[in-house]
Amino acid sequence: MRSRSNVVPRSLFEGSEGRPDSTILMKEWSSCQKCAALCGNRKQVVFWDAQQPKAEILVVGQWPGRDENKMGFPFLGKAGKLCREMISKPDEAAGFLLGKEQFAWANALGCRVPDDVPFHMDYLDNCHPLLEAEIKLLQPACILALGRVAFLRLSGRRTLRTGESTNGQRGSYKGIPVFFMDHPARLYRLVNSLERQKFQELVEKTLHEFKTWHKELRKHEPREAAEGGAGAAEA
Ligand code: URA
Repeated sequence: MRSRSNVVPRSLFEGSEGRPDSTILMKEWSSCQKCAALCGNRKQVVFWDAQQPKAEILVVGQWPGRDENKMGFPFLGKAGKLCREMISKPDEAAGFLLGKEQFAWANALGCRVPDDVPFHMDYLDNCHPLLEAEIKLLQPACILALGRVAFLRLSGRRTLRTGESTNGQRGSYKGIPVFFMDHPARLYRLVNSLERQKFQELVEKTLHEFKTWHKELRKHEPREAAEGGAGAAEA
């Protein structure tokens, strides 16, 4: 397993039963008031799901949905559960047989962005240290980043080029290999059944690529030594 030394004090990431301990983070962030348009509307700040202390893969989404805002955990609403199911499914053809315990879940933002509030880069900048700390606590072997907000957060880019697809791009965040893909939760917003079917096929194909990439990563970069990046962008 990847070494966690020298990153944060042990006491910060190892709670009882060796679990990454988010207590300090929660204390610091649960009353955050940095984004006026978001904190007034939120029920709570949604932190990462740290139930899996040894998770190898950290999945980063955009922000908590309506249900997550109520329940206080990421990826637990309808769309979130669908993401969990599709992403953590074994893929024998790709040689990807990791169990659900190898996945941890987080978001680029801790607060929900309500439907009538436009997304703003300031939100990402303000919330930057929160995801940063969560990544340091888990020290994942790789990150799967879902959607454009997670792309902007983890690629170090401020904008997307016109017509640019981030689906399938590879990069590296502070030495951790990152795979970027379209957000599978979009399936819930597509009403046209043909569009929906096409997008579902794209998601399945991309997840197969991700799982194949992950297997290669393990071959060339066993977790113990996983300090180097795999791709083009170094954020
Ligand atoms: N639920 C989350 O917590 N994050 C997403 O990006 C989508 C659904």
